[in-house]
Amino acid sequence: MSAAKSGDPASIKVLDLTEDQAAQELERLAHEIAAHDEAYHHDDKPVISDADYDALRKRNTQIEKCFPALIREDSPSGRVGAAPSEKFDKVQHAVAMLSLGNAFTDDDVKEFGLRVSRFLGLKPDEELAYTAEPKIDGLSASLRYEKGALVMAATRGDGSEGENVTRNVQTIKDIPQTLATKSPPDVFEVRGEIYMSHAAFAALNEQQVEAGKDPFANPRNAAAGSLRQLDPTITASRPLQFFAYAWGEVSDLPVETQDEAVQLLGSYGFPVNPLMKRCTSTMDMIAHYHAIEEQRSSLGYDIDGVVYKVDRLDWQARLGFVTRSPRWAIAHKFPAEQAITVLNDIEIQVGRTGALTPVAKLEPVTVGGVVVSNATLHNEDEIARKDIRIGDTVVVQRAGDVIPQVVRVLTEKRNGKEVAFKPLSVCPVCGSHAVRDINEKTGKEDVVRRCTGGLICEAQLVQRLKHFVARNALDIDGLGAKQVDAFHGLGWLHSPADIFKLNSHAEEVKKMEGWGETSVSNLMAAIDARREPDLGRLIYGLGIRHVGATTGRLMARSYGTFEAFMSAMIAAGEDREGAAYQELVGIDGVGDVVADALVEFFNEARNREVIDALLAEVTPQEAEAVVADGSPVAGKTLVFTGTLEKMSRAEAKARAESMGAKVSGSVSAKTDLLIAGPGAGSKLKKAESLGVEVIDEDAWIEMAGQN
Ligand code: IVH
Repeated sequence: MSAAKSGDPASIKVLDLTEDQAAQELERLAHEIAAHDEAYHHDDKPVISDADYDALRKRNTQIEKCFPALIREDSPSGRVGAAPSEKFDKVQHAVAMLSLGNAFTDDDVKEFGLRVSRFLGLKPDEELAYTAEPKIDGLSASLRYEKGALVMAATRGDGSEGENVTRNVQTIKDIPQTLATKSPPDVFEVRGEIYMSHAAFAALNEQQVEAGKDPFANPRNAAAGSLRQLDPTITASRPLQFFAYAWGEVSDLPVETQDEAVQLLGSYGFPVNPLMKRCTSTMDMIAHYHAIEEQRSSLGYDIDGVVYKVDRLDWQARLGFVTRSPRWAIAHKFPAEQAITVLNDIEIQVGRTGALTPVAKLEPVTVGGVVVSNATLHNEDEIARKDIRIGDTVVVQRAGDVIPQVVRVLTEKRNGKEVAFKPLSVCPVCGSHAVRDINEKTGKEDVVRRCTGGLICEAQLVQRLKHFVARNALDIDGLGAKQVDAFHGLGWLHSPADIFKLNSHAEEVKKMEGWGETSVSNLMAAIDARREPDLGRLIYGLGIRHVGATTGRLMARSYGTFEAFMSAMIAAGEDREGAAYQELVGIDGVGDVVADALVEFFNEARNREVIDALLAEVTPQEAEAVVADGSPVAGKTLVFTGTLEKMSRAEAKARAESMGAKVSGSVSAKTDLLIAGPGAGSKLKKAESLGVEVIDEDAWIEMAGQN
C-alpha cells in the first residue's frame, strides 16, 4: 500500500482508491453534496462556488464508475430524474393557476359556445370571437417579472401552491431574463408551457440508456424530470422550450383581448405559438382544430388538443370560473390513442363506497407513449354489453389523463378458450354480500354492485382513509396511498381519527424501510398541521356519496361550522318536511340526491361514532366568507326571481357567490335579500309577507358592480 493511500481518502486520486476508501468517499460525498443542495435550494445560500460543487459531483460520478457495486441508495447521481419535491420551496400563486374543462366532440364545442353566449346574454347577431391555439403537452409554469426582471418561476403544483424552480428556469433559453420593453410594468406574471421537442427527447433518452438509466416514457415526463432537478446544471443540459399563452398577477395589461395579450407576450420576448388564430364562429374554431390536427405529426413537439378562449377580456372577467376551470375557455381534445393487447384476467376492486369495479389486467402495451397494464371495465353490464371474456384480444384506449378503457373485443381472434366473466355475489375482500340495489325512484337495478359490509370491509376503510388524506381533502404531505396501505397493514389505522394518533408509532416508523428521523418528524408535523382542517375539505374528506369537493365547500359556506352543519343534517333526517331539510334542498347546487346522501350519512350511528372520534382529535375551522369585507352581500342569503334582463341567472348567481353570498332557490325566514325582476310572483309575495328586503335588477347591478 502506498503512503498516499493510507492518508485522508479525500486527497487520493480516484484511480488509487481502495474499495474501503472508495466507500468512505462515496459516503462523505453523498452527505456533503446533499448539504450543499439544501443550502443552495432550500436556504438559497450556497456555501461553495459552482465550480467546487461541480467538482464534488464529478468525483462522486467517477468513483461510482470505478466501483459500481458501491453506489449508495442516497447517491447524489441517483437523484437525477427523481428530485424529491420537498427539496423545492413552496410558492403561493398570487392568482390561481387553473385547469381547463374538456370537449371531445364538435357538439361539445357547440354546446360550449351556446353556454358562453347564454351566460353573457348575447343577442344572436352579436359577434363572439375566440382564440384557438394548440394545447401543448408539457407542464405549466408561472414566471414573475418585477420591473421587467425575472424574479421567480414556479410550477403549477396544485394550482394554488407550486414549487420554486427559479434557478432551473433561468437556464431555459426560450425564457427571457428581462422583458424586452423600455417601460416594463411593476409586476407581470407570464404563464405558459415548458416542453421538450421530439428531437431533444430522443437524444436525451439515448443518453439515459447509454448511462444505464431508465429512459423517459414521453417528452412530457422528460420535461418534468428535467425541470425538477435539484441541480440546475442538469436542467441546463436538457434542451427545454417554452410557449407563453396566459398571465397571472399583472400591474398593468394595456390590451382588451386575448389575441392582443398574446401579441404583447410576443413583444416582451416570449415564444408564442404560431398556430394561434382568432375565430369568429364555432364552425371556424372546429375548422382550425382540424387544420392543427393535420399538422400534429409534423410539429416536432407533443400537443393533445386545441384550446379555445373567449377573446374579449372583459367578457372573460364576467364569465369567471367554476371550481378550478374558467367558463371562458375549453380544451378540445384529440381523439384517444388506441392499441391492441390481450386481456389476461378480470380483477374486482372495492372502492371507498363499496362499489365493486371490474378491472382488466392486460398484457402490458404502449398506448400513446405510456405503458398500460390495467384498464377499467366500469361495471358488469358493460362487460356483458361488450361481451368481454378472459383471454380475449381487445382494443384499449387512453385519452389524456383519463383511466385507460377497453373499447371492444376483436372477436375474430378468439380460439374458443376464452372464459366468460361471472359477477361475484360476495365482496372479494370481506366476504359480505355484494348486491345491486334497486333504485327507489326509477325502480331499476343499479348498474353498480356494492359490498354491504360498510366499515367492516377493510377495502372500504382503506379507500376512505386514502380519500381522507388526498389532495382535495385533508392533503397531508407525506401521507399518500402507499403509506396508508402500510400503516393500515400494521393495524394502526381503523378510522380517520387514528391518523392523528400516528405519533404514538413514530419510533416504529423510523425503523421502517424508507423512513428516517427527518421524514418521520416531517410526517408528524404535516399531520399536526391539519388539526384545524378547512371545513369544506373536511366535509369532502368524509367520503359521503355524491359529495364532491365543490359540495363540501358549498356546505362549509352555507353552514359555517361543523357543529351547525352536522346538527342541521341530523335535524333534516328526522323530518323531511321540516325547515332543516327544506333549507338544505333550498341551497343552490344541492339536489335531492345529494341531500339524501348527506342525511343518510349523518343518521347512521356508526358514521357518527367515526366523526365523534375524529372531532376529539381535530377542530375544524369556521368557513371564511369568499370575498373579503366590503362586499354588501357577504354572508347573506339571496334569492333571484322573475326575469333578469341585464344578466343571465347563471351570471347573477356566480357574481353573488363570488361576493360571498349564498344563493337559494326558495324564500324563507333566512332569506336576506330578494332580487325581483319583472314577472315575479309567489316568491315576491312570500318575501313581502316575511318582511324580507326586496330590490330590482338595477339596484342589484349597482350592488354587484361595487366589487
Ligand atoms: S390556458 C385559465 N392554453 O393545459 C386557462 N393551457 O388543462 C389556463 N395548456 O394547466 C390554461 N397548452 O398546463 C392554456 N394553449 C394553452 C395550453 C394550456 C397547454 C395546459 C396548461 C394547463 C392545462 C389545463
